[in-house]
Amino acid sequence: MSLGKVITLSSKAPMPQIGLGTWLSKPKEVESAVEIAVRNNYRHLDLAMCYENQDEVGAALKKVIPSVVKREDLFLTSKLWNTGHRPDQVERELDETLNQLGVDYLDLYLIHWPVAFVPGKGTLQPKHPSKEEAYLDLEPSIVETWKAMIALPKSKVRNIGVSNFTIEHIKALISATGVVPTVNQIEAHPLLPQDELVAFCNENDIKITAYSPLGNNLVGKPKLTDYPVVQEIAQKLGATPAQVLIAWGVYRGYIVIPKSVQEERIISNFKQIELSKEDYEAVSAVGKDNYTRFNIPYTYKPKWDINIFDEPIEKQATNKVKIN
Ligand SMILES: NC(=O)c1ccc[n+]([C@@H]2O[C@H](COP(=O)([O-])OP(=O)(O)OC[C@H]3O[C@@H](n4cnc5c(N)ncnc54)[C@H](OP(=O)(O)O)[C@@H]3O)[C@@H](O)[C@H]2O)c1
Repeated sequence: MSLGKVITLSSKAPMPQIGLGTWLSKPKEVESAVEIAVRNNYRHLDLAMCYENQDEVGAALKKVIPSVVKREDLFLTSKLWNTGHRPDQVERELDETLNQLGVDYLDLYLIHWPVAFVPGKGTLQPKHPSKEEAYLDLEPSIVETWKAMIALPKSKVRNIGVSNFTIEHIKALISATGVVPTVNQIEAHPLLPQDELVAFCNENDIKITAYSPLGNNLVGKPKLTDYPVVQEIAQKLGATPAQVLIAWGVYRGYIVIPKSVQEERIISNFKQIELSKEDYEAVSAVGKDNYTRFNIPYTYKPKWDINIFDEPIEKQATNKVKIN
């Protein structure tokens, strides 16, 4: 029985390198996906309040703890949603997550986005009556929220980190508090290598968790698993295209969290294969002249009218991330 490789965080905590993603895993799907994953040796689950499925994840956890796995042998990541950024909301929202999951602590808690929403308007922000926009809360800065994360009791959260943060955002947290996030969870696949951000994180011992490692989870968008070079390498190695893409992330030292609700895929995605330098470079080449970031909230419906990554389309946004 192989539980897979582990990455050691700056806190010395071991984080299993492959985890199960759960975004867009529908009710009735996510409970069985989590149970199947844990029964097939996954020890790391990637969760979030805004996926609106943590209750079901909690139901699955009840089925596997302690019969299949002890709580301390699982690594649970969850994320503070945008509506919880005000410092007095941070622990309250964490408590809600713990309650949904039915556990006493998280292994890792991330600020999901460097963007705050007005609390009390619903998690996914119903459309603004006139502008069809999310209700941004321009009051708490990311530094204020980070200070509240730092103040969370260790008994409830073992490690803290961020998600969708740029170099500028992370530098601001570090210079204001001296506390370096353990992890930055970012969109990361061959079409979005983000070499500069990755180098910055490596220099500061911030581990990268790669989300959307298979390209994305969106209907109608091209899947990296369909790219001919990925399929050719998979065939040559007797692997699946998804295994090749996961191995690409592992080659770069990432923690990788593929999402699936299908048993066969959940099982095969966990089986790590290794890429040679030549195969790694061939997969990387698909990103050349084909830079693509799929996840830009300015393009969401309802739109988040804020520039997060400084992508060309975001330059039309009215607001910037409030740093301090
Ligand atoms: N921090 C953030 O802001 C953020 C944003 C996005 C995602 N995430 C996290 O990262 C996780 C993964 O990212 P993601 O869900 O966007 O995308 P992903 O894992 O790259 O791709 C998921 C899609 O690939 C399909 N798939 C899974 N295994 C496959 C296989 N072996 N062969 C072919 N297709 C396969 C899935 O369908 P089936 O389920 O039908 O197999 C689903 O449509 C999320 O679930 C979430 O936990 C975080």
